[in-house]
Amino acid sequence: MPLIAGGLEGPSSYLLRQIATAAQPWQDIALGSSNGRIMRKHTVSLALSAVVCLVAAVVWPRAALASESAHRPIEKSSFGRVGNDAVEIYTLTNAHGIEARIMTYGAAIVSLKTPDRAGRFQNIVLGFDTLDAYLAGVPYFGASVGRYANRIADGRFTLDGKSYQLPKNDGPNSLHGGARGFDKHIWTAESIQTRQGAALRLTYVSAAGEEGYPGRLTAHVTYRLDHDDSLVIEYQAVTTAPTPVNLANHAYFNLSGDLQRTILDDVLTINADLFTPVNATLIPIGELRSVTNTSFDFRKPQVIGRRINDKDEQLQLGHGYDHNWVLNKTRPEALTLAAVLTDPDSGRSLEIRTTQPGLQFYSGNFLDGKPSGGGTVFKYRTGLCLETQHFPDSPNQPAFPSTILRPGKMYSAKTELAFRVVK
Ligand code: BGC
Repeated sequence: MPLIAGGLEGPSSYLLRQIATAAQPWQDIALGSSNGRIMRKHTVSLALSAVVCLVAAVVWPRAALASESAHRPIEKSSFGRVGNDAVEIYTLTNAHGIEARIMTYGAAIVSLKTPDRAGRFQNIVLGFDTLDAYLAGVPYFGASVGRYANRIADGRFTLDGKSYQLPKNDGPNSLHGGARGFDKHIWTAESIQTRQGAALRLTYVSAAGEEGYPGRLTAHVTYRLDHDDSLVIEYQAVTTAPTPVNLANHAYFNLSGDLQRTILDDVLTINADLFTPVNATLIPIGELRSVTNTSFDFRKPQVIGRRINDKDEQLQLGHGYDHNWVLNKTRPEALTLAAVLTDPDSGRSLEIRTTQPGLQFYSGNFLDGKPSGGGTVFKYRTGLCLETQHFPDSPNQPAFPSTILRPGKMYSAKTELAFRVVK
């Protein structure tokens, strides 16, 4: 099948090969019918056609844009309460019917509906229908994690000669911002209509000293669902004192649309020559290791389940894949291809581009099939995370790209999730 057909040289050609080039059927239909209508109406005379075409050229783009906005309002509704505080959920829909629901609690993606190759829309992220389920405790489903996504060793770091102690909420380490990270707060939201698509800008102000971090951090995440079928996630933050910052989205993808199926048959490509091996508590040991001849080489498309149980020290430490890949970059912070994930059965394919230096691929090893929240059961490896972010434990690893934000500077990062279909 075209998805994994070999024959081209070099890893990047394989990466590009996995990117779906097939036109999407639902787009063809939409475009075809509009053009057809215009052409049929105006065949009376050549002169008249020319006038109509001229008028259409001027008016059509605006009319199309206006009708797109009119048909795709951002809908807002109540999603429950945390104590006295209301939580809202926003629904963003694009020109082709792709739908993202985002709640203000944790600025989290609750559901994401995209079409399979037959044009059938299904939810492709793990999530719940009720807020109570999230409040009962879930492992960061769809959430915006911060102030520092991923682990900080011993929950401790030194900055400008002063040491800071964070809560240890993952064995000896601090994970995803500590005991109450950004995923467990209500963000304020503002909806915005843009030319590219509907957007939601969420803001959270983290007080100085919250979870042990210095400086008051004002963080924004903007989700924009574009009419070209991508969800663009942009982060910005400013601080009143130097602090580590690492913001990331923690969606668990299951492109099959059947959230009870495992992700082991999915095909993954990661644009990285190196990864950061870890110790027994999943803290990088400081080495950037080549993926060549290891189970971590995803430069060519690989079926995830094929090597996940290999007798490999790193896979054993991670209980599967739970590692950071060092993304190949032409220059730091360039928006470049990070990964492509494809579900051969449904034909859904996800292309991820990012300005971030790293990608944490976590294969859902700690999903244990126990009922969570509303009683829904998410079984072992039925979702996987592809978290674009800085490397774990960077505040303690001077050789890693810096995660320190200083007053007067703006933290910014961008990740694009493009939804495609392969034949
Ligand atoms: C980490 C996993 C962790 C999961 C849920 C991922 O980002 O890499 O080790 O279990 O988040 O907490």
